Amino acid sequence: MESKKIKIGLIGLGTVGSGVYKTLQSFDNIEIVKIAVKNKNKKRNIEGLDENIITDNPYEVVEDPEIDIVCELIGGMEPAFDLIEKAIKNGKHIVTANKELLAKRGVEIFDIAEAYNRVILYEAAVAGGIPIIMPVKTILAGNKISKIEAILNGTTNYILTKMDVQGASYDDVLKEAQELGYAETDPTGDVEGFDAAYKITTLATLAFKKRINLENVYREGITKVRAEDMNAANDLGYKIKLIASAKMDENGYADVRVHPMLISNQSTLAHINYVTNAVSLTGHPVGHITLSGPGAGEFPTASSVVGDILSIAAELGTTDYLLPMMRCNHKEIANCINILDTQNKYYLSINAKNHKGVIGNIGNICAENNISLESIVQKNVSDNKTADITVITELCLEKDMQNAVKAFEQSEFINKVNSLIRVQV
Ligand SMILES: NC(=O)c1ccc[n+]([C@@H]2O[C@H](COP(=O)([O-])OP(=O)(O)OC[C@H]3O[C@@H](n4cnc5c(N)ncnc54)[C@H](OP(=O)(O)O)[C@@H]3O)[C@@H](O)[C@H]2O)c1
Repeated sequence: MESKKIKIGLIGLGTVGSGVYKTLQSFDNIEIVKIAVKNKNKKRNIEGLDENIITDNPYEVVEDPEIDIVCELIGGMEPAFDLIEKAIKNGKHIVTANKELLAKRGVEIFDIAEAYNRVILYEAAVAGGIPIIMPVKTILAGNKISKIEAILNGTTNYILTKMDVQGASYDDVLKEAQELGYAETDPTGDVEGFDAAYKITTLATLAFKKRINLENVYREGITKVRAEDMNAANDLGYKIKLIASAKMDENGYADVRVHPMLISNQSTLAHINYVTNAVSLTGHPVGHITLSGPGAGEFPTASSVVGDILSIAAELGTTDYLLPMMRCNHKEIANCINILDTQNKYYLSINAKNHKGVIGNIGNICAENNISLESIVQKNVSDNKTADITVITELCLEKDMQNAVKAFEQSEFINKVNSLIRVQV
C-alpha cells in the first residue's frame, strides 16, 4: 500500500525557494502541491517545474485544505506575518527562513503556533546552511550556554576579508562586491549589521531560554572600518570581523550585540573568510565548539529548509503533539545590559599633532577616565606633521571610553579619533 504523501505549499520561489523545490524532487513521500510567487510571468530556470501549480495569490497556499506544511520563503514583514498567522490558524505547520520576522515578531508568531498546536521551524533563518537551531534545541539542550560569538553575515565578512587581503578601502570593496552579486544594490541591511542583529536575537533567545528584545541588541555596522585599521590590527596579531555576540552574566543579564571586533589570530573566527559563516559557542558541559559553513545561497539554505520539512513530515500522523523539543516554550523576557555599562577592551586609532607630550596627554586622558593602557604605538609621522597613534586598552567601561573619546576630541594635541573598535577578550 502506498503511504500518504505529505503535501507542501511553497510561498516564494526565489533563491531559497528554487533550491527547496529542486531538492524536494528526490523525496517520494513529499509532494509540492502549490507555489506562490509575485510575478507569474517571470521566466524560471527550474527543470520539470509544473506551471499549473503556480499562483500569484499566496492566500491560495495558506487556505488550501490539502496542504500540511507551508514554507514561507518570501522574506520581510508583510504579507509574511499575515500569511503565517493565517496558515497556522488553518492548521498548517510552518517552515520559514525569515530572520527579520522572527526577530521582530517571533513572540507573537510562536504564541499563535502554541495556541493552535502547530510548530514553526526556522533552521535557515540563522546562519543559512549551518545547523545551529536544531542542535541548540536538542543535542545541546543539557548545556548552560554562557557565550556565543559568531560571523552571521556573508556579505560583510566578504567585504572585510577583501579589505584585509587587498589592503583596499571599504568603498572600493563594496562596489566590487555589488558587481559580483555578493552585496545588494542597497547594502544597508548587511553593512549596518541589521541582518546579523536579527539572527543573533533569535539564537540568543534559544541559547538563554529567555526572549531577547531586538531593541535591546546593540548594533554597529562596518562602514567606518578603514584599510589602515586592518593593517594596524594585523601588526598587533588580530583580524577585524563583524561579530554577533551574546553573553549571559551570573546576575542573569544578557549582553547581545553586533559590531566590528578585533579578533585574535589564535581564535577560529579570525580564519573564517569571505562568505563563510561560523558560530562559536561556550557552554557547560560541552565546553567550546565552533560550527562553520555556508551562511547563505540556494542549496545551503535549502538544506536547512528541507531538513525542517522532513522533521515535521516524519512525525505527521504519528502524534498529537509534534516535535516537543523544537517548540518555543520560554515566555520570560531577558534583562539586557546597556552597552554603556559593559566592560570591553578597545583599539583606538588617534591622529595627533606631532608634538612632545602627545603620548602623555593620551595617557592622562585615559587615566582620568579609569582606563588603563595595554599598548600605545606611534606610527606614520606624515608631511603635515601629524602622526597616527594606535592604542589598545585593558578592560574598561564603555561609558568611560565614550567620555575619553570626547576628551580626546577636545585636546589641543589631537586632530581626531580615526577609529574606535572593540577587541575580543
Ligand atoms: N538568499 C539566501 O541565501 C538566504 C539565506 C538565508 C535566509 N534567507 C531568507 O529566505 C527568504 C527568501 O530569500 P530569497 O533570497 O530566496 O529571496 P528572493 O530570491 O528575493 O525570492 C523571494 C521570492 O518570494 C516571492 N514573493 C515576494 N513577495 C511575494 C508575495 N507577496 N507573494 C508571493 N510571492 C512573493 C518572489 O516572487 P518572484 O519570483 O515572482 O519575484 C520570489 O520568488 C528571506 O526571508 C531571506 O531572508 C535567504
